[in-house]
Amino acid sequence: MCGIVAALAARNVQGILLEGLKRLEYRGYDSAGLAVLNADGELRRQRAVGKVAALEEKLAQGALSGHIGIAHTRWATHGKPFEVNAHPHVAGDAAGGCLAVVHNGIIENFEPLKRELEADGVVFESETDTEVVAHLIERAFGETGDLLAAVQTTLARIDGAYALAVMHAEAPREIVGARKGSPLVVGVGIDESFIASDALALLQVTDRFIYLQEGDVVRLSDGRGIEIFAAGERIERSTHTYEHGDAAASRGEYRHFMLKEIHEQPAVIAATLEGRLSGSRVLESSFGVGAKTLFARVEQVHIIACGTSYHAGMVARYWLEKLAGLPTQVEVASEYRYRDVVVPKNTLFVTLSQSGETADTLAALRYAKTLDYLGALAICNVPGSSLTRESDFALMTQAGPEIGVASTKAFTTQLVGLLMLTLSLRQTRGDACEAALVQALRELPATLDRALEMDAPIAELSEAFAEKHHALFLGRGTQFPIALEGALKLKEISYIHAEAYPAGELKHGPLALVDADMPVIAVAPNDELLEKLKSNLQEVRARGGQLFVFADEGVALGSADELRVLHVPRIDEILAPILYTLPLQLLSYHVAVLKGTDVDQPRNLAKSVTVE
Ligand code: G6P
Repeated sequence: MCGIVAALAARNVQGILLEGLKRLEYRGYDSAGLAVLNADGELRRQRAVGKVAALEEKLAQGALSGHIGIAHTRWATHGKPFEVNAHPHVAGDAAGGCLAVVHNGIIENFEPLKRELEADGVVFESETDTEVVAHLIERAFGETGDLLAAVQTTLARIDGAYALAVMHAEAPREIVGARKGSPLVVGVGIDESFIASDALALLQVTDRFIYLQEGDVVRLSDGRGIEIFAAGERIERSTHTYEHGDAAASRGEYRHFMLKEIHEQPAVIAATLEGRLSGSRVLESSFGVGAKTLFARVEQVHIIACGTSYHAGMVARYWLEKLAGLPTQVEVASEYRYRDVVVPKNTLFVTLSQSGETADTLAALRYAKTLDYLGALAICNVPGSSLTRESDFALMTQAGPEIGVASTKAFTTQLVGLLMLTLSLRQTRGDACEAALVQALRELPATLDRALEMDAPIAELSEAFAEKHHALFLGRGTQFPIALEGALKLKEISYIHAEAYPAGELKHGPLALVDADMPVIAVAPNDELLEKLKSNLQEVRARGGQLFVFADEGVALGSADELRVLHVPRIDEILAPILYTLPLQLLSYHVAVLKGTDVDQPRNLAKSVTVE
């Protein structure tokens, strides 16, 4: 989704802004732009449709130079991905404008504001909601000459979600930023300061960050440094040192971030487990102070998430019901937030999110807090994110920065977190601890390492998919959500239309689609549902369908032209969904590479969806 970078320094900031935009590319975008104030105090901007490289090329032909600037990657919401709609947007009478603004999010009341401005003679050059903000701030600035006050006056008039960065030719050593509903961090340098929508964008210039909170406004300026305001009052926010190092932002020896992240899974799962298991128990303190007392009262669980995180929640439902005996509901956040939810007594509310900034998930949490839940727990990968700050309890997964838009390691670490939650709830409710399962969890990283050895046979298998237009994924029990996740991965990065069904539903519709052109992928570990799945597989073979089965090393299914079996290392049935995710990730990856798509930044998708 859109990305913001802004810099106030004693050196030329064009390079810092461009590098920041490149580091934000993973979020997904369709155009990019930047603006600086040059040595003559004039605002100059450059914008380009497509990749940051296209912007860089334009800048190579006509570089911009200045000690203050703002930049943006845009993911179109209002108006097509054309250059005229790319940010920064400008306002003001000077040629090239006097004020520039970049914006993430959506201004919901932009239409009446636009009508009002047009009636006053303002001529709009773009179709965006952002341009309204530029003109409103410019007008307010005209009255006081104070950029901070002009931004605050404008914020009082706009509804919606936003993160903003603004600069003005007549306030040449100031940048003002604001956040409400979209993340924004301040980078603290030595005699220089920065704003970005993500700390990763600024790691080349600083490792010290202030995470702005909802409603915060920030002013960067020479002399006064970094000032933060909440509800108009000057306040202090603490500065944090970024712990993950900058290596996470590089691909290293891997061709794509996605492949690197798939291969990181054994290590990041080990990190997620570290310090959280003791003997044959899961430490409830992993979820925060007081979690144990809360868990003892839980009688039901509601899990809310979006996208891949939602699939993790679907797996957890099977675990929570089977291992902890807790009735569990799982729902996508965009539906939940608009429903009249009935909350049974003693229900725990759980959100799952890699980024902790997904707009629908955050809105669901805020709605849930108005209802009668026992408490809200977030399982999240980004420390300091809105979701963790606003929840009562949080379990931080240790996936590290995930750059590939298609989520991989964030998903499997969420599953580990959810299994730890399940075991904690079981323990605190007085049920016997699951010593064998805790031991299997400890061994999981090593088993995942073995599964990654399937890379070469899966790369070979992927050739059977590259020319196909559709694929069907089947699973039963906990493997049904894994089939859904496998289908989602394939469609996200290879653009092959893929659907997943519980294997038992095959004969109720999708079987009509099965023929030699429809590859069918079945996830079939050696669990209690295997026999039933075998009959479903016969149904596919009988219709001439081509079958690809991922099955436990011990499962004998035979092999024939229309049946390919790939063996996955043996594992405890409960942990199988985590393990079986890896070969499906590798399959989509290799199909996408064969098809030549943009694996890490698939078209139209965004990493962190901070608008509704
Ligand atoms: C976007 C991403 C997905 C992700 C979903 C939820 O759609 O492309 O990979 O699963 O958002 O994101 P979250 O950060 O809340 O897990």
